[in-house]
Parts: sequence; structure tokens; C-alpha cells
Amino acid sequence: MINVDAKDIDYYSLGFDFIETKAMFISDYKNDKWDQGKLVPFGNIEISPAACVLNYGQEIFEGMKALSTKKGDITLFRPEENAKRFNKSAERLLMPTYDTHRFVQAIKQVVIANKEYIPPYDTGGALYIRPLMIGSGPILGVKPAKEYKVIIFTVPVGPYFPQGFMGIDLEITKEYTRAAPGGTGYAKTGSNYAGSMLAAKLTKEKGFSQVIFLDAVNKEYIEEVGTANFFAVIEDKLVTPLTSGTILPGITRMSVIELAAKKLGMVIEERDVSYKELFDDGCIEVFCTGTAAVITPIKSVSIEQQKKVFSGGEPGQYTRKLYELLTGIQRLEIEDEFNWVVVV
Ligand code: PLP
Ligand code: COI
Repeated sequence: MINVDAKDIDYYSLGFDFIETKAMFISDYKNDKWDQGKLVPFGNIEISPAACVLNYGQEIFEGMKALSTKKGDITLFRPEENAKRFNKSAERLLMPTYDTHRFVQAIKQVVIANKEYIPPYDTGGALYIRPLMIGSGPILGVKPAKEYKVIIFTVPVGPYFPQGFMGIDLEITKEYTRAAPGGTGYAKTGSNYAGSMLAAKLTKEKGFSQVIFLDAVNKEYIEEVGTANFFAVIEDKLVTPLTSGTILPGITRMSVIELAAKKLGMVIEERDVSYKELFDDGCIEVFCTGTAAVITPIKSVSIEQQKKVFSGGEPGQYTRKLYELLTGIQRLEIEDEFNWVVVV
């Protein structure tokens, strides 16, 4: 099901798979400047086989969601944070930055143009928004392109992990790492994901939903889940790995830290987290966060012959409270006292 009319989509059984929507935004960078950008029908683009993105992977992207509220408003969550992160990724890959105000404006334009694809409120689904930038200009030597494209398209989605709030089983991998100090781990660039697919495939064959990556130097400290940030509740404190360059600084992560501190009064520790700590009695809950994953409880963590099941296999109380707070604010059911929500 790729090309389907908005009214023929079964919004109640959506997963996280590609479906075409009506319109996309496209903007070109030539002669050292961006054009105004415009909405066009969703479709293929033409690109030189010598494009930098095709040869050397000069690409960055973002992930965002537009949600329907009960009252029928359409909301975005902290879109200017995605715009800022987009530019941090761009700088790491020697790509031109994109004006943050224009980025948010373009997001709104694409959402409005595809609004008939926003899943109804009661489905719990969202219109996933995928902004990306590619080095589209031709190049032979390893250096940045001279021409770029920003493209923004949308896809109606359901939960990223089919188990949803029931919790997922994860495996810690010591065999594969995602990013090393000095590398591109903090940038949202396609090659970080291409390199993680083998680890994900192998763990899924064993029945796990995803891997948890460890740091590349010591193979001891937790970095993140393949597509989400990692949290543990240890002795009633909320503990999460530092964003010191090798993990993606998640916008959901940043928001959950603030909610836990200000709304639940939790003590937060951003620090190195040894995977061994998860197997101690003090570690009572673990979960992961992301735009696609929202807050997904982690039912169990395994490494080699060791396995620990958390909260008797049920979502823990802190995970549940944080999920209710975050999704309540995102859908404007709880007062948005942090000014995170943008109504389109
Ligand atoms: N880590 C990785 C590797 C991701 O792909 C994502 C998803 O975007 C996240 C963390 C969470 O980031 P955010 O909460 O901004 O979506
Ligand atoms: C997101 O959560 O938006 C992501 O980018 C994760 C994944 C789908 C790449």
C-alpha cells in the first residue's frame, strides 16, 4: 500500500510504513543561496549519478509529527528544535544551513497541503513529517557539493513499535556500535542509520525489537536504542546517557527530562550509564523516547545469557506518568505550560 487515496486508508491499523501523500516541499540551493522553495505534487526527483549524496552520503534528515487534537486542531511539537538540530547536522556535514523560521513555515505548508492524511484523533496515529537535505550537486573528489535540495514529505503513521505501549524486548549488542567519539553520532545523517541496519536485522531474527548500542570505546556504557534515546529509573532517579557527541540529542529526551524534573519532582542524572546497572535491583524501569517511538516502555533487556524483565513485564509507573504527560501536552489535553505546542 504505497499509493492510496486518503479516504481509503485504514487509519486504525497503520504501522510505520511508507504511504504516499499529496504534496511535498522542495527548495534548491544554488550559487550560495536558497530559493524560496515551493509545494509540488509528491513525486520522484531527478539527480546526477555524480551527486555527492549518492557517492559520499552527504545527507541529513529530521523526524516530526503533526497530530489531531480532540477538538480538531492540528499540532506540531517544538518544531523550532528540529530546525535547530537540522542546522547542527548540516554544519557537521559541511552543508548550508536553512533559516529556522522558513523551516517551520515550510513544515506548516506541507502539513496543511496533506491535511486529509492526518490520522483521526481516536486512532492515536500521526502525520509523520520527514524533512531532509541532500548534497545534490555532482562531485568526484571527496568534498562537499555545491548544490543542495531540502525536501519535506509526509506519511500517515501508527506506532513505530507494533507492541506500542505494551513494551518491547531489547538486546544490548557488544558486536556492533553506532558511533565513535569524533564521528557523526550527534548528527541526524543517513549513514548513521545505514550502519545500524545489520545490527537491527540480526537482533530482530532473534525476536528482539531493536538493539541497545554501547559506547564504542569501552563497550560498557549505554548510548541509545537504534532509533530512540534511553532512560532508566534507578533508585527513583531518572538516569539517561549524556549527549556528549555520539548520541542523537533527542527532542523527546529533552522534554521528558524537563517533565520528570518539573512535573514529577524527580532527580535527573545525565551521566555514563553502565549496562551492568540495569541488572541491579535498584533499576526498576527502563524506557526509550523519540518522535517515532514517543515513550515506549522496555519490557526486557538481554545481553548474552543474561535477561532482566522490568516491572513484571508491565509498563512502570514513572513511564506511564511521563507518557500521559507528554502525549497529553502534545494533543492539548494537558495545559501546555512550557509553550511546546504549535497549532498549525
Ligand atoms: N536517537 C536516534 C538514533 C533517533 O533516530 C531518534 C529519533 O529521531 C532519537 C534518538 C530521538 O530523537 P527525537 O526525540 O528528537 O525524535
Ligand atoms: C524519529 O523518531 O523521527 C526517527 O527519525 C526515528 C526513525 C524513524 C529514523
